[in-house]
Amino acid sequence: MINKNPIGLFDSGIGGTSIWKEIHQLLPSEDTIYLADSKNAPYGQKSKEEIIELSCKNTEFLLDQNCKLIVVACNTATTNAIKELRAKYNVPFIGIEPAIKPAALHSKTQKIGILATKGTLNSELFYKNVEQYQDIQIIEQIGFGLVELIEGGKIDSAEMHELLLKYLNPMVQANIDYLVLGCSHYPYLIPQIKKIIPKKITIIDSGEAVARQTKKVLEEVVGMNENTHLSKNLFYTNTNPEVLKEILENKYPIIAQDF
Ligand code: DGL
Repeated sequence: MINKNPIGLFDSGIGGTSIWKEIHQLLPSEDTIYLADSKNAPYGQKSKEEIIELSCKNTEFLLDQNCKLIVVACNTATTNAIKELRAKYNVPFIGIEPAIKPAALHSKTQKIGILATKGTLNSELFYKNVEQYQDIQIIEQIGFGLVELIEGGKIDSAEMHELLLKYLNPMVQANIDYLVLGCSHYPYLIPQIKKIIPKKITIIDSGEAVARQTKKVLEEVVGMNENTHLSKNLFYTNTNPEVLKEILENKYPIIAQDF
């Protein structure tokens, strides 16, 4: 089945581009529209109602541009709003949730760490997810301040290093062997994280799994864009476009407008 409409993605900011990169790599002939709602970042500290409202606004922007499927490239928006989005809009949604399952299944020390936002760790969906792994000790840590630094272009800063040390050292001391990155911004911190945790700890995020699921839904339900031409990829932001531009290695034009 052929469907040439674009895939829409949104996040509270630039973090979901980590998911976009996985999708673009797996599905290079698909057109995409990415929405960075950086003006309203971080979502992680907001109420469930606010997150639902912002997620609806982002979805409507993408639907106005005829997106055939929406990737909620944000753990906080997925865990707080995907149920409401699916009930309200007649389009398939792919969400992203912390990859607790593979970490719990493979852990030898029976101890795993998760770094995510307050909104994700306090959500019902996350609670239901971890409830299934009673034998595993899950050390949860809210990444206070990390998204703000990433959005501010301070990935490789002393402040970032200090925060990561504070959040990760207790996990290392507790002998975790898996670290789950439960926020789509955090894959950009992997080089910094690797300076702090020992090599024997495996870092996992959900980007690849989301890309595979997107492909599956396109193949089975929505239809693929089978063009051989180069795909068209649009990036929108409602703040200063510089950090987004940099994270995309200056390869794509950014449309800065209020939404
Ligand atoms: N990138 C987001 C996530 O995956 C949200 C970060 C935030 O805005 O707090 O959770």
